Amino acid sequence: MDRYAVLGHPIKHSLSPQIHAAFARQTGEQLEYEAIELPVTSFETRVWQMFRDGFKGFNVTVPFKKDAHDFADDLTERAKRAGAVNTLLQQEDGRILGDTTDGAGLVYDLEDQLNWQITDRNILILGAGGAVRGILEPLLERKPAQVVLANRTLANAEKITDDFPEIAPCSFEELTGRFDIIINGTSASLSGHLPPLPEGLVTPETCCYDMMYGKGETAFNKWAREQGAKACADGLGMLVGQAAVSFEIWRGVKPEPGAVLDELRANLKS
Ligand code: ATR
Repeated sequence: MDRYAVLGHPIKHSLSPQIHAAFARQTGEQLEYEAIELPVTSFETRVWQMFRDGFKGFNVTVPFKKDAHDFADDLTERAKRAGAVNTLLQQEDGRILGDTTDGAGLVYDLEDQLNWQITDRNILILGAGGAVRGILEPLLERKPAQVVLANRTLANAEKITDDFPEIAPCSFEELTGRFDIIINGTSASLSGHLPPLPEGLVTPETCCYDMMYGKGETAFNKWAREQGAKACADGLGMLVGQAAVSFEIWRGVKPEPGAVLDELRANLKS
């Protein structure tokens, strides 16, 4: 049986094994997928060992996405630009390919699941960390009218324009305007906090997306709902979407993420 795993630290609560098991059932692919916690300092040696032991590919999550980027022999264009890798694959010649599927997962969720149009829309992104870097290329490919990127530390937002000159960086204090889609990519949500957002960003036509997810409503989505947003969504759909793209890279078969997302959502609520 072909073996795959998600590598992270911590990794205990990862939903990826459940998602990939569901994709395998759905597509009839024979594979095993597990979650493996690696010590933070030994990514390279451990991954080499696991490839030698016969693993076919890996998903990589916090804090190893940059290590995976440096580990790969070949990188896709989107992984190069993101400076991060969440999917590793051993190619036929033995070389390791690194890709990042997070952005494709987000675009899939926005367009295909939620029916939120990206093309020609005004988009605001909050945050300028690794998570945001990973989504920019696929989002920009959809040709939004503009992408404003607001961050607590302005210098970090400005740094992103070195690789993505199309975006307009600003601090939260400078942030003005009205947006069709607001995406929260700060890690503030993880601790239940909100970035200091000014009033007036959200109109009755604004759709708000939190890249984080949890059992209940996230702090950002609660704020968005109270501001009168047209619709709110959390990052569970993005998680399933990125998994589907990774699955296709490994197996050459495209799973249908919608049913798996419904199943996960129901599990999460209960
Ligand atoms: P990740 O890989 O999750 O993106 P990261 O690279 O550490 O993590 O980036 C975290 C992002 O969340 C940054 O944009 C950070 O802002 P700074 O660049 O100013 O550090 C943002 N962030 C974290 N906590 C925040 C908070 N309480 N309020 C606003 N922004 C926050």
